[in-house]
Amino acid sequence: MSYQVTVEPTGDLVEVEEGQTLLDAALRQGVWLPFACGHGTCGTCKVQVLEGDVDVGAASPFALMDMEREEGVVLACCALPESDLVIEADIDVDPDFAGYQIEDYQAKVVSIEELSPTIKGIRLALDRPMQFQAGQYVNLNLPGVEGSRAFSIANSPANASYVDLHVRLVPEGKGTGWIHQTMKVGDELEVSGPYGQFFVRKTDDKDVIFIAGGSGLSSPLSMISDLLEMGDERQIYLFQGARNLAELYKKSELEALAEQHSNFHYLPALNDALASDDWQGFCGFVHEAASDHFKGRLSGHKAYLCGPPPMIDAAITMLMQGRVFEADIHMEKFLTAA
Ligand code: FES
Repeated sequence: MSYQVTVEPTGDLVEVEEGQTLLDAALRQGVWLPFACGHGTCGTCKVQVLEGDVDVGAASPFALMDMEREEGVVLACCALPESDLVIEADIDVDPDFAGYQIEDYQAKVVSIEELSPTIKGIRLALDRPMQFQAGQYVNLNLPGVEGSRAFSIANSPANASYVDLHVRLVPEGKGTGWIHQTMKVGDELEVSGPYGQFFVRKTDDKDVIFIAGGSGLSSPLSMISDLLEMGDERQIYLFQGARNLAELYKKSELEALAEQHSNFHYLPALNDALASDDWQGFCGFVHEAASDHFKGRLSGHKAYLCGPPPMIDAAITMLMQGRVFEADIHMEKFLTAA
């Protein structure tokens, strides 16, 4: 059984299968709707239902308030149609968004690497190339694990036949636990993607600051590789935060990249360096490293933030105090896979 959804103001038609969310159906049929987290917590995907019946699904009460529910607002990433529908969406597509269609892929694990004591790097070869924008993510279905898990793609889109993912072990997390303890080379998985609107705005000549914490290095790594491969001439700064040297992964690769490209600047920071680390670099939180480098004056930059929510909050405050416009700050929020 399926329902037909008319999306206003464009008049696009979307066929939604029973049990499928509005957003999933739209994106798979090449109809773009705004979204970010994809699982009912950020509120980016709100649409107004003009006609028809919908189950609001697993929308968080913080992302969709009671008053909005009463007015017929739903979160497209959670909403399950119960009849044909007419909806109205605020479709204001960023001119730099490529909007590649989301599809399902079969993938084979071709390598597993220990990047740090808590982060594994895995490479999944896809059954056919996936077009994606640097900074986007994929969802993985793991054997015996309920629900999908989202991971940012760490490789550049120039290598479309595989995806590299950085997976931090979340204590008690079933998905990341399976990846760290059970997954082996040769295993086959289902992957869908590409998702997300975290990507570098290219129609802009402002220098670029990336601030990454923990396994949040994956998106910036993909974005930086893409920019450098494309010969982008803007100054590109990467501030990478970690607790200690063992957790500061990809350090030598990034140092080598900075040696090859005079416009790429690699600035790592350790907030809990061990005595044995013999660390000569910045000691403190990663947002403090950025503020220190620019002496608190960051106006005229674009910033891309990826990491745990407290790091993102601290970085936003620092950037706004440093006079970076709110519209120039982009972030990958809520991307936590347990
Ligand atoms: Fe739907 Fe975040 S709440 S995309």
